[in-house]
Amino acid sequence: MSERETWTSRVGFILAAVGSAVGLGNIWSFPFQTASNGGAAFLVVYLLAVFLIGFPAMLGEFVIGRRSEQNAVEAFRSLGFGEWSVAGGLGVVGSFVTLAFYSVVGGWVLSYIVGSVTGAYLGDPGAYFGAVSAGPIAVATHAVFMALTIGIVALGVTDGIERATKVMVPAIFVLIGGLAVWVSTLDGASDGYSYYLSPDVSVIAGDLAGIVPSAVGQAFFTLSLGFGVMIAYSSYLGRDDSLPADGSAIVVVNTLVALLAGFVVFPVLFAIEGAVPESGGAGTAFTALASAFSQIPGGQAIGLGFFVVLLLAALSSSISLLEVPTSFVVDRTGYDRTPTAVGLGVLVAIAGVPTALDTGILGWYNDVVFNLLLPLAVLVIAVFVGWVADDQLAEELDLGSSFGDDFSTVWLWWIRIVIPVAIGGTLLLGIQSLLV
Ligand code: PHE
Ligand code: NA
Repeated sequence: MSERETWTSRVGFILAAVGSAVGLGNIWSFPFQTASNGGAAFLVVYLLAVFLIGFPAMLGEFVIGRRSEQNAVEAFRSLGFGEWSVAGGLGVVGSFVTLAFYSVVGGWVLSYIVGSVTGAYLGDPGAYFGAVSAGPIAVATHAVFMALTIGIVALGVTDGIERATKVMVPAIFVLIGGLAVWVSTLDGASDGYSYYLSPDVSVIAGDLAGIVPSAVGQAFFTLSLGFGVMIAYSSYLGRDDSLPADGSAIVVVNTLVALLAGFVVFPVLFAIEGAVPESGGAGTAFTALASAFSQIPGGQAIGLGFFVVLLLAALSSSISLLEVPTSFVVDRTGYDRTPTAVGLGVLVAIAGVPTALDTGILGWYNDVVFNLLLPLAVLVIAVFVGWVADDQLAEELDLGSSFGDDFSTVWLWWIRIVIPVAIGGTLLLGIQSLLV
């Protein structure tokens, strides 16, 4: 069995983790969720969830991964708590299933890149979405997206994931920043900003029970928590890294990209009349944006840039989802990485076919995962870190940390008490909103 890989540099790890975090969640769902949930009001709840629950929980995954130097399942066993490896097993299953859905949307993005080049969606955006989002074209683009994902993961942690994200993440930043500047010159820009950011407190007050679980679920999803991705990625880390410093960088950059995405999407939508979709349903983002791109000056080029960003963001996330089951099988059996990644990726591709034929499944996935599965998974991690393996893991946070002992003390109590209470409350609200 070959030796386990490690990231070649600290920046390599940070970019890989940012690549995982920045994805369809930031650029595709976030702006629309914000818009349909009361603008700035949703933003506030979301930011609180990201920084007060997501960030400490991410550190929880980091200490598990770095301490054990193992994949999400074996990590628990190697820390001495084999019974808890069920939690990692759920992560492996969660990653697998999530990737099957994620890749179908990744396939749509491929179709929209082609459509931006050929102008195919300019005439009738609704018909274009119908044609590419479900049916043979969707199956084909999903397969291509999975092939790209498999190719990168098969190359390895440093030669594949690290090398790819080192290029993709800076490209995402430059492109989305450039687009935000460009679209600020559009006619509707200021209306777009105010729609995006003006707080509608009545929305929050009226539907707090609905907003809190979606904001918290969105926060976990965007930070790639709960599926063992951050456990797997941090298992390739050296001891001298400051986990709190790396974690803050990742969370801040991820948040910036999400905010920037709103600064691209809303000026575009407001540049033409009546283009703001009521809800962030699976397809609305694509149809509304495509129809705007077909009407604004330079729309085709802006569209191409936007969908290229979306592809880079989706791909740098999908590779992290495939890495979870891949690292599990490789660590566990000693099989070579390449055939393992190919085999697992093909299974994921097959599992995604029903979604590529019927997009309705996506809504169902969303409800269950965001309201139930992700909060539950993060809760389990928090309990494990705070109450079960707390001795070794609190010490692990201090190794290489630039934040001092007080930080780790507060963090430990935070993860013991505040996070379980907050997630418990969120879960109750989420279950309630699933039932009504
Ligand atoms: N964070 C990614 C996004 O926002 C999705 C993701 C979730 C990736 C969980 C890995 C694990 O699109
Ligand atoms: Na990504």
